[in-house]
Amino acid sequence: MVRNIYPKKNYPKPCMPKVEHSKILKGQKALVTGASSGIGKAVALALGKAGASVLINYVTDDGTVEEMIKEIKGYGSQAIGFQADVSKEPQVLAMYEAMFKKFGTIDILVNNAGIQRDSPFDQMTLAQWQAVIDVNLTGQFLCAREAVKEFKRRGVVESVSCAAGKIICMSSVHEVIPWGGHVNYASSKGGVMQLMKSIAQEMAPFRIRVNSIGPGAIKTPINHDAWATPEALKSLLTLIPYQRIGIPEDIANVAVWLASDYSDYVTGTTIFADGGMTLYPGFSTGG
Ligand code: BGC
Repeated sequence: MVRNIYPKKNYPKPCMPKVEHSKILKGQKALVTGASSGIGKAVALALGKAGASVLINYVTDDGTVEEMIKEIKGYGSQAIGFQADVSKEPQVLAMYEAMFKKFGTIDILVNNAGIQRDSPFDQMTLAQWQAVIDVNLTGQFLCAREAVKEFKRRGVVESVSCAAGKIICMSSVHEVIPWGGHVNYASSKGGVMQLMKSIAQEMAPFRIRVNSIGPGAIKTPINHDAWATPEALKSLLTLIPYQRIGIPEDIANVAVWLASDYSDYVTGTTIFADGGMTLYPGFSTGG
């Protein structure tokens, strides 16, 4: 077990800005994949709150999507749900058809859908490898390609945004931090980094901005075992200098900014929102 070298203090709970931002995404149309739980859900709600119309993509839904639609409508924005597996091309095409039928176009894509199928490397099946690459990497490719087609067709609409379109890829600290026992996942996120950068490079002249968010440990169902018991949480905190686990809203706040014109000169970069996980915390006393 790793020793927690951080002082025992009453660190603040997750913390939100004291002043609400206004409708900085008013008039924009957003598509968020994997949006019925965790980070995707928080991002979809935050974009809706900031004034964007939102297509909530999901694979499974226990009634959450209906509640989210209600909440977003309560903010004065429009919302629809659409079931599609982002790794299946026909389903992605059908989703974009629904997007264009309902909202006419797309301004913001949040490529969020992602899965983990963890296994020791020498026991990893091809099915576990493939499932993760299919959803986490191929899914982002398919959704980004369709968004870019529409961004290029339509171009900049100055009254809506400085850019012709924005793509936000949900990556991970594991685009740079190797992760034993999760080789498929880390490989997919390393791939997402080059997918994001290469699209950003190719599409910048068309005023299409492409960036990633690299979340650290965010309290969601995907990493339940890492925070569910006090022992697990204690061990997790040895990896987080900021000494708290993240919450989905920590990521949603970054997504709203990256989708807005406040970040108009930002393209081709990953913003790590990780409480310092990528700062090699093991070196704070050693090396
Ligand atoms: C993974 C989580 C993990 C976190 C930090 C994320 O990308 O999905 O399971 O807790 O990285 O290791």
